[in-house]
Formats: sequence, structure tokens, C-alpha cells
Amino acid sequence: MADKLPQEMESDSWAGEMGEKWNTYVDQFEGMIAPVGAAAIEYAAFQPGERVIDIGCGGGATTFDIARKIGDGHVTGLDLSQTLVDTANRRLAESGLSNIDFICDDASTSSVNNYDVLFSRFGVMFFEDPYAAFQNMRRFLKESGRISFVCWGPPTEQPWVGQLMAIAGKYVELPAPVPNAPGPFAFGNQDYLRDILESASFRNLEITLWRGKQQIGGAEATPESAARFVMDALFLGDALADQADEIKQQAYQEAVELLRGYSSGGKVELEGCAWLVKASC
Ligand SMILES: C[S@@+](CC[C@H](N)C(=O)[O-])C[C@H]1O[C@@H](n2cnc3c(N)ncnc32)[C@H](O)[C@@H]1O
Repeated sequence: MADKLPQEMESDSWAGEMGEKWNTYVDQFEGMIAPVGAAAIEYAAFQPGERVIDIGCGGGATTFDIARKIGDGHVTGLDLSQTLVDTANRRLAESGLSNIDFICDDASTSSVNNYDVLFSRFGVMFFEDPYAAFQNMRRFLKESGRISFVCWGPPTEQPWVGQLMAIAGKYVELPAPVPNAPGPFAFGNQDYLRDILESASFRNLEITLWRGKQQIGGAEATPESAARFVMDALFLGDALADQADEIKQQAYQEAVELLRGYSSGGKVELEGCAWLVKASC
């Protein structure tokens, strides 16, 4: 049995293998979380002229959305993965936008400063010590600044993960989840998240539940392409990485059958939930 679930991962994996993987499938990953990203951008209520930092910006999809909202303001996309920063910079060169820059840095130790808003779509859940990281990130903001980010909600309320991992569970013994472990679901427990933010002296904390669909395999997908994506890029493939090819092929077929039930109109969509979080300095 593996010593931890594949979805329990820390920041340093993003500097290497995870960053490479996200980069290879960047369009599918960004397409998958586009609906929740749109909700997070709306929730942040960006104003023209604001200076924004987008933490864990990946290939920069949300950074470009923010740039279009802030007019003569400025947005910095910050990410630990040099590969993803290179992709973001390539997209920037083609975008015609001039109010953006991208930097490769670790948010838990970076000393960037003078921002009005700290935003993130799923980029702040991987810190080994989230208490220290949020204390550090508060220093990125002006005294009048605010944070507004989205992170995944409770892991038990994510059918887009649970239904697929149930397939893995037929072939391998999965370890019990470690509560609050760094990884996508680190902040599922709202009390833990609240404690981290209050310990970093954020005030006026609001946490709002978002429920909606994850577009598995990207904004356009068939059951076959979505199943290929979950085997090659999502946790199901990671959980079965050491298994024989026949088992992987069997699991792929089961994923196709499962996802057929969630396929319509050129999309494959499963439910999930996230916390929209905002607070002031
Ligand atoms: C799930 S991806 C989200 C990417 C992007 N925000 C999006 O929504 O398309 C998480 C991102 O956080 C970045 N990341 C993880 N730990 C980080 C850290 N300590 N400092 C900066 N970026 C980090 C990863 O490299 C990765 O690009």
C-alpha cells in the first residue's frame, strides 16, 4: 500500500514533476476548472487601477482574466514552477497585454510587496507550513490590502475525485486520508482554514461555499478523452502507476463507462465544491 494518497502533495513536487505534468495538460486542467475560476474572479471584485498578485498562477489563465479587469492597474503571476512561468510568458508575448508580469518564486518565502489584492485559484494549498506561508504572504499586501482566493472544499464532497478513485480502490489498497495534509484538499476543513488566516492577522474573514461542475478533460471532451485525461494526468493514473498495463487498461475502460453517464453536449461534467475566501489586512 502507498504511504499516502496521490492527492497529498507538497509545493516542492510542483517545482518538478507536478509542474511538468500541469504544463503538459495545461489546456485540459484550465478548462476543467474554468467555471469555478470565473466564480472566483467575480467574487474578488477587482477594481480598475489595483495592483494584484496571483499566487500559484500556473500557465496564467486567471492572471490574464484579472489583467482585463484592472485597466491601468498591474497583475503579477507568481509560480514555483519555471516551466509554467515560461508557458505564461509565451502566452503573454502573444496577448498584447502590457499590465502583467510573471515571476518564478516560492510564495512561502518570497518578499514581493506593495499589492492591493492577493488572488489565487487553487495555488495556496500545498505549503508544508501553511501558518508560516500565510504570515509571509500577508506581507505582500499594503495595509489596506485584501485576499480573495478559491480552494477545494471537503474531500468527501468531491464526486469528481471520489467516483474516479473508487475505480482505483478496486485494484489497490488506498491509505486513509491524512487530515489537513498539504495538497488540493488541505483546506477542506473550514475551521482549519479559518485558524490559519486568523493566525496571520487577516480580519473580516468570509468563506462562501461554491458548488458546481468540473469539466473533466477540459471544456470539450468525450468520455474517452476525459478517461484518458484522468488516467494520464489526474489521481486515478497516479494511484495505479505501479500496476500492470492490463489493469490500467481495465481501469481506463471503467472510467469511460462511468464518464459516459456524465457526458452531454460535448462536455463531461462531475460535481465538486470549493470555498471562496476573502479577508482584509
Ligand atoms: C492546481 S495548480 C493551479 C494553477 C493556476 N492557479 C490555475 O488555476 O490554472 C497549483 C499551482 O500552484 C503552484 N504552487 C504550488 N506551491 C507553490 C508555492 N509555494 N509558491 C508558488 N506557487 C506554488 C504550482 O506550481 C501550480 O502552478
